[in-house]
Amino acid sequence: MDISKFLSVLFLLCSLCLECNNVVVKASHKVYPEFQSLSAVEVKQIHRTRFHFQPPKHWMNDPNGPMYFNGLYHFFYQYNPKGAVWGNIVWAHSVSKDLINWEALEPIIYPTKPFDKNGCWSGSATILPGNKPIILYTGIDTQNQQVQNYAIPKNYSDPYLREWVKPNKNNPIMVADEIVNGSAFRDPTTAWFGKDGHWRILVGSRRKNRGIAHLYKSKDFVNWVKAKHPLHSKAKTGMWECPDFYPVSLSGKNGLDTSLVGPNLKHVFKVSLDVTRSDYYTVGKYHTQIDRYVPDNTSVDGWDGLRYDYGNFYASKSFFDAGKKRRILWGWANESDSTKNDVEKGWAGIQAIPRIVWLDSSGKQVLQWSVEELETLRGNKVHINNQQVKKGEHVEIKGITAAQVDVEVTFLLPKSLDNAEEFDASWVNARDLCGLKGSKVQGGVGPFGLLTLASSHLEEYTPVFFRVFKAPKKHVVLMCSDARSSSLMDGLYKPSFAGFVDVDLTDRKLSLRSLIDHSVVESFGAGGKTCILSRVYPTLAVYNDAHLYAFNNGTESITIENVNAWSMNSPRMN
Ligand code: FRU
Repeated sequence: MDISKFLSVLFLLCSLCLECNNVVVKASHKVYPEFQSLSAVEVKQIHRTRFHFQPPKHWMNDPNGPMYFNGLYHFFYQYNPKGAVWGNIVWAHSVSKDLINWEALEPIIYPTKPFDKNGCWSGSATILPGNKPIILYTGIDTQNQQVQNYAIPKNYSDPYLREWVKPNKNNPIMVADEIVNGSAFRDPTTAWFGKDGHWRILVGSRRKNRGIAHLYKSKDFVNWVKAKHPLHSKAKTGMWECPDFYPVSLSGKNGLDTSLVGPNLKHVFKVSLDVTRSDYYTVGKYHTQIDRYVPDNTSVDGWDGLRYDYGNFYASKSFFDAGKKRRILWGWANESDSTKNDVEKGWAGIQAIPRIVWLDSSGKQVLQWSVEELETLRGNKVHINNQQVKKGEHVEIKGITAAQVDVEVTFLLPKSLDNAEEFDASWVNARDLCGLKGSKVQGGVGPFGLLTLASSHLEEYTPVFFRVFKAPKKHVVLMCSDARSSSLMDGLYKPSFAGFVDVDLTDRKLSLRSLIDHSVVESFGAGGKTCILSRVYPTLAVYNDAHLYAFNNGTESITIENVNAWSMNSPRMN
């Protein structure tokens, strides 16, 4: 049985047994009652990231309600003010002018009312006409039912929108009906406005093992009616958390307002699959007449489908930045160390660098790239060009702070790819393939790439690399970010994350960019076609003892056409 089938059977068994015991099915964060209100004694610095978003201490999970309002970016997130594990969740709040330097404000939503007494969970913001932001979020009510609530700024003229109110009138604004399972009914999306004068939003759910995005409609944003059919659903995918639905332009990088429909666009539909803890998306068509979304036949729907990121990236949410006309994607990167370590560190959870997202010219997938503002942190630069890397060689990229760096490489492949390894059609799972053929297993064309967060004698390193295979129709490119040798510490989760890269090799070029920040290696393959974020915890390759290398373990020589690497400065971080 393949892993996804096994997981789906396991999931079904677990959910059945939870329901028959009358236990409320909650969000699937592990609960540690003994730690959840244990305040950090110390905030350990060694693995703390510097330019990735994180609060000063304690636990963070999902990005919530990101928005651009009156010249400021607002970022809210699921936060435990009392400890470094999930629990006591509130909506914490930070603001920024550039998405890079952040100022922390007081949390805006915390449990106070019967409709959110047991939890203030994820949700989204919508800017209503008249420039009025409104937040929809999931509350856990006194009956432990998941309901949808709204909150509005107390004072619209406060540029920081410091205080928000949850009016008693009309809240909750959506409750589960007899068909919807009230313990699987959460994470409302940003609303879009239809030509019929109705607002629409989605709420994530499931019925048995079918993942569902329920559609709700409203004229006034207060009275909401569930549509007869979900916008989309899919059998055997389990609970759909944090749905996201937005238009993308058929050409160019510009983002589109969430309400835009028309001939020159497609739609992206994303869900966070609770069972696999990954974010999957399809590209498809929104049929506005019948209010249904249908993925294109080039997009696989379900957990064999496309992912924003093949590493540690979950519960993501996008928003339209009306200032710079772009769509920005936030995603949560959990820790990969043990709960005990998290408690000792006094903090857990970071956000991936906000990424712009746009449709690839093939129309089959999206591309992602860090927001341009990140480049303002680039400091000391090194540049290498036209350097050959032969079989078994590794070349140090010197002169930068390798624990905190932004590195871009373009590799030039050999003229002939005849000596690439044969691709075996049974290799359907990229991650298994990367596990089988790690960075040290010699190939033909590749493995080649970067050794990040490497210690001087390579006792520790996180390789991010490509492998090119020959297949009957075209070449297959595998991209890996392999944490297996990342740390000498025990008890860590060290996966060999991987994804295939759908790239045309006629120009013989493959590019790789990695944002390396102490305990995170966030990589973009082929200009953002395949992204992989790994969390790693080196013990030797830290601070000034970290090194960065380019390497090649294929029989064929590879040329580094270009390396640009910048030491990264630290922004103001909350
Ligand atoms: C996703 C999630 C959401 C829920 C929130 C609770 O990580 O489980 O479904 O609203 O986290 O913190």
